Amino acid sequence: MNVHEDAPLLEIRDLRVTFNGPAGPAEAICGIDLALDAGKVLGIVGESGSGKSVTMMAVMQLLPPSAEITGSVKFKGHELIGLPPQEMRKLRGARIGMIFQDPLSAFNPVLTIGEQICEALRLHDRTLSRGGARDRAVELLEMVSIPQPDRRARQFPHEFSGGMRQRAMIAMAIANSPDLLIADEPTTALDVTVQAQILDVLQRLREDLGIGLMFITHDLGVVAGAADEVAVMYSGRIVERGAVDDVFYSSHHPYTRGLLAALPKLGGSDGPLTPIEGTPPSLRNRPPGCAFRPRCHIAIPLCGAAQPALATIANVSTACHLFSHFEAMP
Ligand SMILES: Nc1ncnc2c1ncn2[C@@H]1O[C@H](COP(=O)(O)OP(=O)(O)OP(=O)(O)O)[C@@H](O)[C@H]1O
Ligand code: SF4
Ligand SMILES: [Mg+2]
Repeated sequence: MNVHEDAPLLEIRDLRVTFNGPAGPAEAICGIDLALDAGKVLGIVGESGSGKSVTMMAVMQLLPPSAEITGSVKFKGHELIGLPPQEMRKLRGARIGMIFQDPLSAFNPVLTIGEQICEALRLHDRTLSRGGARDRAVELLEMVSIPQPDRRARQFPHEFSGGMRQRAMIAMAIANSPDLLIADEPTTALDVTVQAQILDVLQRLREDLGIGLMFITHDLGVVAGAADEVAVMYSGRIVERGAVDDVFYSSHHPYTRGLLAALPKLGGSDGPLTPIEGTPPSLRNRPPGCAFRPRCHIAIPLCGAAQPALATIANVSTACHLFSHFEAMP
């Protein structure tokens, strides 16, 4: 495959995903644009059903045949949409690694962790000897801070704790030195201390190996410590996007503000947390105009008539009529 080394690591343009089922088509992703450079971390946040995993599966070309995908997903300048499955298989696990929320389901229970990492290594490098793969597997377990990696490599997945399994999965995902790592809720099932350790491992990989990381979570707090850029998704669209600090300190979208208000404050709460009331619309029953309107306390008549587009002011891109309206005033 021809990749262009000077092109952005990942570039998504007007990505749309529609699931065709007996009840008719349902548009899960309604035209999103994203970009990620090598050595950077992009956090994608949003409530359940906002389209985070579908975006990741579209990038990896792992959606079922019922999914109609349009738009463009370029990896180092090379188009992935429409790539023949055998070419995509070569990329997955080699140049693009994946980490899922539930590591237990990703491992084979009857093979040791070491054997499974060796298998991942030899799948993409047939010249690697058994001994060479074993040494590399132990090295990888050490890289993700697994104590006594030599002994641990000979253990089965059920002998690992949840946090260690997650680290072992990261080791497997980076076995072939990928350029891009996509992690879908990698810390959700873990307690806060283990979550911090996993985030630390991912940060080191970015710093030491220059891996670009797309990090999916529903927790804006996790993004604050782990990402350079953040994209906030709501009902299949990006409603706000920018550098983490810019979005945290000057978010404009009422949905992002709601997520921020729902975050526990450091050192104890100075008041009750404010959850966002209501639920997201179903894919087949989105309201006209802005999909957030039924939950928005500051909606104006225009919100029910037209879909707001992303507008960039002071480094933050926001899709909200009210924001564009006030910013446009002299
Ligand atoms: N294979 C599928 N067939 C039909 N609809 C699907 C399919 N996969 C996902 N969807 C729908 O697409 C929408 C987005 O789903 P997605 O899994 O991306 O949400 P998410 O943001 O990852 O949520 P969560 O935080 O719960 O993981 C949902 O409404 C979901 O029901
Ligand atoms: S466009 Fe209107 S409804 Fe949507 S978030 Fe902005 S103010 Fe609220
Ligand atoms: Mg998901």
